[in-house]
Amino acid sequence: MDLRGHIALVTGAAHRVGRMLALALARAGVHVAVHYGRSAQAAHETVDAIRRLGVQAQAFQADLRTPEAPAQLFHQVQASLGVPRILVNSAAAFVPGQVRDTTLENWDLHLNLNLRAAFLLTQAFARAVGAGPGKVVNITDWRAQYPGRKYLAYTISKAGLITLTHMAARELAPGIQVNALALGAVLPPPGQSPEYLERLARRTPGGRPIREAEIGDALLFLLRNDAVTGEVLYLDAGAHLVHG
Ligand SMILES: NC(=O)c1ccc[n+]([C@@H]2O[C@H](COP(=O)([O-])OP(=O)(O)OC[C@H]3O[C@@H](n4cnc5c(N)ncnc54)[C@H](OP(=O)(O)O)[C@@H]3O)[C@@H](O)[C@H]2O)c1
Repeated sequence: MDLRGHIALVTGAAHRVGRMLALALARAGVHVAVHYGRSAQAAHETVDAIRRLGVQAQAFQADLRTPEAPAQLFHQVQASLGVPRILVNSAAAFVPGQVRDTTLENWDLHLNLNLRAAFLLTQAFARAVGAGPGKVVNITDWRAQYPGRKYLAYTISKAGLITLTHMAARELAPGIQVNALALGAVLPPPGQSPEYLERLARRTPGGRPIREAEIGDALLFLLRNDAVTGEVLYLDAGAHLVHG
């Protein structure tokens, strides 16, 4: 798909990885709906940064944990900017929890935000885009295929996102391609030091964190190449090879 001039909805785009994805789209000539949950100021700064790149941008607030919010968000974007032909599901929670201590609240947070919201947005997207063209990219994690011990609900939500990617790719073909980008260590979780990230990254074959430009390149590849669908692109310096 020629991306220039299309509209993208990026969830969790105010800051960090979501902002990187939104800026990569803007540099490729895509207008961007910048979704945010609580980070209003950061969202408006991202909108300004995107507009400086010569494309349209607008911020949209939604708490994606609630069942009705994803479809409402999609329809607000459609009413303000037009039908998005690109959907990037990046908003997510990442809170530790093991089998013995995961609370219902922890479980619901991950499953509702990381997985159900992505599903409901994909559903609204598929209904609006019809026969296409359209592109969905789900941001997942190398952990989705690794039974680590610390992030039970998060890992299950991201594994579910991969299954959603496969099933939606098959059902929505040939007009809509659905792919996943499984990231390795990009940024330390909020509250953790850069050393935490470096330590994590050193355990991978690549031995280093993933860079912003690499994320942008991978996203644009998945969006531009119409022959790729149902793919999970591991952008993780090989983390899934040693931990998977
Ligand atoms: N950071 C990494 O190294 C890394 C590694 C692997 C995979 N990933 C994946 O990459 C994506 C982004 O990661 P990140 O580290 O940038 O995430 P993050 O810093 O934890 O940010 C979470 C994002 O989700 C949004 N969000 C949280 N709760 C929300 C809610 N209730 N409703 C709507 N939005 C909500 C936040 O928006 P507000 O701040 O506006 O509330 C924020 O933009 C995630 O899918 C993550 O799993 C990241």
